[in-house]
Amino acid sequence: MALQVRNITAGYVPELAILRGMNLDARRGQVTVIIGPNGAGKSTLIKAVAGLVPVSAGKVLLDARDITNPRTDQMGQLGMAYVPQTDNIFRSLTIRQNLELVLRQAGSERASRLNALFQQFPPLAEKQKEKAGSLSGGQRQFLAVAMALAIRPSVMLMDEPSAGLAPKAAEEVLGMVRALTDDGVTVVLVEQNVRQALRVADYCYILADGQNQVDGPAKALMNDPVVGEIYLGGKRMAGS
Ligand SMILES: Nc1ncnc2c1ncn2[C@@H]1O[C@H](COP(=O)(O)OP(=O)(O)O)[C@@H](O)[C@H]1O
Ligand SMILES: [Mg+2]
Repeated sequence: MALQVRNITAGYVPELAILRGMNLDARRGQVTVIIGPNGAGKSTLIKAVAGLVPVSAGKVLLDARDITNPRTDQMGQLGMAYVPQTDNIFRSLTIRQNLELVLRQAGSERASRLNALFQQFPPLAEKQKEKAGSLSGGQRQFLAVAMALAIRPSVMLMDEPSAGLAPKAAEEVLGMVRALTDDGVTVVLVEQNVRQALRVADYCYILADGQNQVDGPAKALMNDPVVGEIYLGGKRMAGS
């Protein structure tokens, strides 16, 4: 197991726990998706893993090593990248400048790493001199992911990369997220597009109200009638 969240309590202020005994396992090289209603604590969970929300009880393990409450400046060294839902690129800089910014620590490898990222994302190479703000919503997510890859992470935490995108763009972004696992990257993905997310995911956690509800292989949950009713817009039960 690459990443393990063990019974954590976490929240934005000490008196108010948002996550109350949360658990999650993410297998190496797989996509683990987190779904659940608004306010369930999905974003809080990955922020807690990333050290952006304090964990007051329980543990976060990366490759069996306790990394609970990592400092943000340790994230690169740990091989863990976090892609926030919004404000994940610098719009007034060019695409190339965005990537150069995250590669500034790469020393003599800077040029080759920049080229490798452009090869991995050809549309970004084509538009490298344009302002990032001029990219389409989907391409912006590609850039945000390319920037996160600059530290060559083994684990990527991503918060709703397909939010607000048209269905086709959402599918492209999720396909790209899936493809990251071809290189052995472990992906933990928060998603609202449940149906599409379950298609690209290996395993799925459903959260509500700061706690785990259901989890299982993505395929099994996709075919689960109760999950279908609640999360996939199935028919309502009689009388409800
Ligand atoms: N910065 C914050 N400060 C205080 N409370 C917050 C903050 N962000 C989110 N919350 C609260 O934490 C709970 C979970 O939010 P969040 O993790 O963003 O849910 P989700 O991502 O599942 O929609 C909500 O009740 C929300 O109001
Ligand atoms: Mg959220």
